[in-house]
Order: sequence, then structure tokens, then C-alpha cells
Amino acid sequence: MTAALLDGKAIAAALQGEIKQRAALFAERQGRPPGLAVILVGDNLASQVYVRNKRRACAEAGFHSALHALPATTTQAELLELINRLNADPTIDGILVQLPLPEDLDESAVTECICPTKDVDGFHPDNVGRLVLRRPRLRPCTPKGIMRLLAETGARLEGLDAVVIGQSNIVGRPMALELLAARCTVTICHSRTRDLADKARSADILVAAVGRPAFVPGDWIKRGAILIDVGINRLADGRLVGDLEFATCAERAAWITPVPGGVGPMTIASLLENTLEAAELHAG
Ligand code: GUN
Repeated sequence: MTAALLDGKAIAAALQGEIKQRAALFAERQGRPPGLAVILVGDNLASQVYVRNKRRACAEAGFHSALHALPATTTQAELLELINRLNADPTIDGILVQLPLPEDLDESAVTECICPTKDVDGFHPDNVGRLVLRRPRLRPCTPKGIMRLLAETGARLEGLDAVVIGQSNIVGRPMALELLAARCTVTICHSRTRDLADKARSADILVAAVGRPAFVPGDWIKRGAILIDVGINRLADGRLVGDLEFATCAERAAWITPVPGGVGPMTIASLLENTLEAAELHAG
């Protein structure tokens, strides 16, 4: 078997076209477009690229977007003051603080300062709790985008064995909750997991969110599995590769996401969707 490609770039483009139309309708009714504020602290190069891509997508969808680029020396009090200002700004529906933050800033306190209805990342404890309780409001962007990719396969998810490698707050944990809500049997693996290869081999759906190039070899893959690669790893020669050893994994799987052009564009499409949903919440 050679896997079919799950083309996130094309699926995200179609989604963004629909969001653009909905945003235009929103703007017509409300007299303003949906608005996203992006806060970038310090000079992490990868973060700068991610933020640029997010803002470009906003512009293409007709959203208002405002960048707040702050120096690495920004204090916690200054950052919280900016967030409080944006919380009170009626032209801003979504507030995104790009992570990671410089070390001396408290990520949890920053996340909790964002008004939950403006938390388009879905990282606020209110939104995480809602996801746990299956009453989601704003859902974390990467797992939400992945659920959309899984829908595109046409597979019936109920009862499938899903394995998530990685337990981060941004991807692994909310991903597991999304799959559980879709009635998969879910296993979360992490750096202390024993017999990782065996667990991976049991997966009908495998989500790799490890951050290590080609970490998952083809002989860990069940024939006919759906493979989702969240990794974006830059090699010394400049190439971008995922967490899956692409060629050998693709030989056995039914579906596989490419890197780049798989999960990444879906994360951005979900961010736009969340910002529009937040705008609709605020418009009442
Ligand atoms: N850093 C890596 N991924 C993300 C994300 O989805 N949102 C934010 N705010 N920062 C990130």
C-alpha cells in the first residue's frame, strides 16, 4: 500500500475561502471585520515566521489584525497591561500570545489573563475545561485542524484505536480529548512510555507531535493506518521534515499528512475560524 496524501494546504485554502465569505457577511452586519491581536515577545525566529503566516492569512480573509511586537525585556506587568487593554477593545475579537515566551515571563498567568471569549488559541483553563466536559467553545487550533483532516478521509472514527505521541498542552492533550470525543480509544504516549513501538503499531490513527525529525520509522506503522505528522523540524541543510520517516511510513499507511503542507496550514485555518466564532460571540 502507498498512502494517499492528506493535503492540508488545499483543504485549508478551501476552508479559508468559506471563512472569508462569512467574515464579509459579519462585516456587513456589524460595520467592522473580525479582529485579531497578535502579541510577539522577543526575537524567536520560528515564532516570527509563524506570526507572519498567521497575519498574512488574516489579511487574505479580510480580518483586521494588529501586531504587538514587544522586546524580550518586556515585564510581566507590561504584558498583562497590554492584554487587559485588548480585552477591553471592542474591535478585537481574538488575542493570541505567541509561545514560547521569554523565560522570565509566566506563561500560565498570561494565558489566564486573556478573556476566555477572546482566547482564540483555546488555552485558557475555561476553554480547556469546556473541551474536557464536551461543551467546547474555542478549541485549540492544531487539534481542531487535525479533526478536520480526519473528516476528509471519510473514515468512521468511532471505536478506532488512536495513539497520540506527545503530551503538550498545545497539541497532545487537547488532541487526545478531541479523539475521545469522537469516540476513539485513545492512548497518550510520552518520553516515559514503555514499548512505544508496540503502542504505535496498535494505532489506526497515529498523531506524532514529538518535535524530533523522522522519530517514527515505517516498521511502527499498522497497515492501513491514518498518519498525522505535527512535527516541523528544520535540518542542518535547511530542509523541513516531520516527526515521521515519511517514505517508509507512507508505504504502509492509508493516509499521511506531508510536511510542510499538512497540519501547519490547518492550524492557521482553525485560528481564523476561531477568531470568526469569537467575533460572532461578541456580536451576540
Ligand atoms: N507556539 C506553537 N504553537 C502555538 C500555537 O498554536 N499558539 C500559540 N499562541 N503559540 C504557539
